[in-house]
Amino acid sequence: MNKELPSNDSIIAGCKQVLDSNHNGSYTIPAGGLYPHQWLWDSCFISIGLAEYDIKRAQKELRSLLRGQWSNGMLPNIIFADSDSHKTDKNIWQSWRNAYAPDHVSTSGITQPPLLAEAVIRIGAKLKSVDRRSWYQDMYPALLAYHEWMYRERDPHNEGLVLLIHPWESGLDNSPPWIDQLHLHSKPLWISVIEKLNLDKLAVFFRRDTKHVPPGQRVNNIDALLYFNIIQRLKRKNWDIERILERSHFTFQDLTFNCILIRANQHLREIAKTIGRKIPEDLDERIKKSEEALDNLWDGFYKQYFSRTFITHKLVKEPSISALMPLYSGAIDKSRAEELVKMLNSTSHFSTKYPVPSVPVNSSWYNELGYWQGPTWINTNWLIADGLKRYGFNGEAERIIKSSVELIAEHGPHEYFSAKSGSPAGARNFSWSASLTIEMLLNGLINKED
Ligand code: GLC
Repeated sequence: MNKELPSNDSIIAGCKQVLDSNHNGSYTIPAGGLYPHQWLWDSCFISIGLAEYDIKRAQKELRSLLRGQWSNGMLPNIIFADSDSHKTDKNIWQSWRNAYAPDHVSTSGITQPPLLAEAVIRIGAKLKSVDRRSWYQDMYPALLAYHEWMYRERDPHNEGLVLLIHPWESGLDNSPPWIDQLHLHSKPLWISVIEKLNLDKLAVFFRRDTKHVPPGQRVNNIDALLYFNIIQRLKRKNWDIERILERSHFTFQDLTFNCILIRANQHLREIAKTIGRKIPEDLDERIKKSEEALDNLWDGFYKQYFSRTFITHKLVKEPSISALMPLYSGAIDKSRAEELVKMLNSTSHFSTKYPVPSVPVNSSWYNELGYWQGPTWINTNWLIADGLKRYGFNGEAERIIKSSVELIAEHGPHEYFSAKSGSPAGARNFSWSASLTIEMLLNGLINKED
């Protein structure tokens, strides 16, 4: 980059401005227009940045998330904005069909990566010990209920790995392992007909994302219809997991989700300890099992971890950014971590000019600006850098942080960027890109002028 880059202070000021303009009083939307509601892991990432300069707002962001918690403990990936203009979104989901859904807000019927404990801990770290304890006391019941729900409903065979029922639950919507599995399932007739008659272009009238972002940077119309179709199927079962699992369904033990859960469990323990509580014994057992179960996702030949299907236990050997998430889990040994770092540093895998690509460059799926199929994202960079630091790979962590900040300094907080050229893509003024940049600049051990 040859342009003079703004100072750290002005990058931070720009990011704060984005977070302010996306704020509606009690929570922060991911980006205006494209994402008008509150999203689960977005709000967690957002509050991590907010905690650096406005602790009250960070706390409010998470409290606002808990408005959507179901009485069985589930945290939905979306809480819909309270406005009549979003009736269609609410109707697509009809979460009210399930008795556990809250009455006062309308939500989706699925979850997203369990980052809440990380956000609670990051906020806690900024508080004086007495305030920290009362913050944890406040958050603990909801967190506990959420973790218990994950194991009760999503790990029915006590395997230590929780299953997901929709690609959106992974947060990495159309990452190759998911799309690969989606395409293996038979297509409903109505979608095959649309495809044959080339009518999928009509989907543009119903899609919000392609009104805001060039279609080449989003999931294609047929895959979007397949996602929609899964929602319809889940809705017909009233979002009831027992009914959903009765018949063979699209179910997946996702690597990123389970790695984030493992880390979240470590935080849950820490929170419980700080407030003198004991994690219920059966949950404690499940937590231990999860750390061990990660090993079942290791492939000795490819020397990496993969997601696997819930029904057949087959590893889905399509590489993606998930391969690096065991670093974030903290549950692998140093020699495995070294294997992953080799991949991170290899130019045929993840080492690009602007790391880390969401799919390694040698994959047949790699698509420079394709949604979750190539670009670099600030949130996954943040998770990987955090894991690297904990394993002592400080040089690698700093390289990722520095490159992420450079992208934001040059272009502003976009949703994602080409990992090769750095060109910005997706939504502009994207909240988690802004908030995590603030966090990285203030804590990331870097000096942009280096
Ligand atoms: C997309 C992303 C997901 C994110 C949501 C809102 O669906 O894939 O991770 O939470 O947008 O930003």
